[in-house]
Amino acid sequence: MNLYRQLVRPLLFRQDPEKIHESTLRMAQRVGRSGIGRRVLRSMYHCREPRLHTTVAGLNFPHPVGLAAGFDKNGIVVQAMAALGFSHVEIGSVSAAPSDGNPRPRLFRLVEDEAIVVNYGVPNEGAAIIAQRLAKTPIDVPLGVNIVETNTGLPTDPEDVVAEFVEAARPMCEIADYLTLNLNCPNTTAGVSPFDDMGRLRELLQAYETLANLPPVWLKFTAHQNAAQADAVMACVAPFAFVAGFIFNLPHGTSYPLRTSPQLVSSLPGTLCGAPTRQMMDDTLAFWYRRIDRARFRLVGSGGITSVEDAYRKIRLGASLLQIYSGLVYSGPGLVPRIVRGLARRLEEDGFDHISAAVGIDVRSDTSHREPQS
Ligand SMILES: Cc1cc2nc3c(=O)[nH]c(=O)nc-3n(C[C@H](O)[C@H](O)[C@H](O)COP(=O)(O)O)c2cc1C
Repeated sequence: MNLYRQLVRPLLFRQDPEKIHESTLRMAQRVGRSGIGRRVLRSMYHCREPRLHTTVAGLNFPHPVGLAAGFDKNGIVVQAMAALGFSHVEIGSVSAAPSDGNPRPRLFRLVEDEAIVVNYGVPNEGAAIIAQRLAKTPIDVPLGVNIVETNTGLPTDPEDVVAEFVEAARPMCEIADYLTLNLNCPNTTAGVSPFDDMGRLRELLQAYETLANLPPVWLKFTAHQNAAQADAVMACVAPFAFVAGFIFNLPHGTSYPLRTSPQLVSSLPGTLCGAPTRQMMDDTLAFWYRRIDRARFRLVGSGGITSVEDAYRKIRLGASLLQIYSGLVYSGPGLVPRIVRGLARRLEEDGFDHISAAVGIDVRSDTSHREPQS
């Protein structure tokens, strides 16, 4: 019997999604601050599998399964999340200035679909306060900080967006092991990004190049399979050695085949995350793995990971690292050690001594491939 799914989740899901998230964070913060609390979590959730230990962009990850951005927007539970066994913890999105985000309600569960519709609009306390907090809570796995423009509710001049991204990153450079630039935050811009313009993206990367102590940077933009756009991104990014790879944001909207009534879904604003996005995100991963310079760039796989098989498939399609959010809500924290142990088992069964040998194997061995039409 899965205790979380059968006992804990029904109780949690009786309450408003955002309120229960906030009380979960408060509880996790208390546990994470206490040495005993962290030891208890570690004893329950930690697991290490040598064949999963991986080095990406010069950073050591005990295994590939990390916490996706959005769960801990203000960096208040990094210690608890590391103790829960995540191999990396990405906080944020963090903007230069604080923001309240969109008006509530802005978080909706589609339980039948194991999905979440998000319309937060990146509320966060702003980079300066969050950086001070993070500096006091070091963790023993890589810490990522996800950077975004401040949500003012008004369109921002693209010039100002570049300055915003730089200001938000500056206090994080000393503290974060890596940065992720959330270039298409669906909640602020409905998926339209000033960085769809390659000139603007270049300007941003040139500005980042001047930042002192800049850690490796991942670029997170809306999932797509447009060959011309992907090649333009790759050409633009190539001169910037600090760019470690790519993560994919979910496209704005809810247009997936769903069990939940279409009437209900169509009334919800925002972006759907979770199980229904799995296939589209897998296809996107494979598409990008085919195109990237694999010696230079690494992909982070996310979107609907709720089982060992989901995680393993994304690795075989090209993901060097994985990130989970919705799966944690629907399956509970036991999902992480389950996936870690299961991945080690699956690698062994398939004759891989190390995870690196499995990354992209299904794409590398696929000779029947034809380019999808964009
Ligand atoms: C409630 C919620 C809030 C999120 N907030 C952010 C965010 O602030 N910044 C970001 O880059 N991604 C955010 N995401 C997207 C996740 O980082 C992740 O890319 C996405 O949810 C796919 O993973 P999943 O299917 O496991 O949820 C959010 C997702 C959810 C569910």
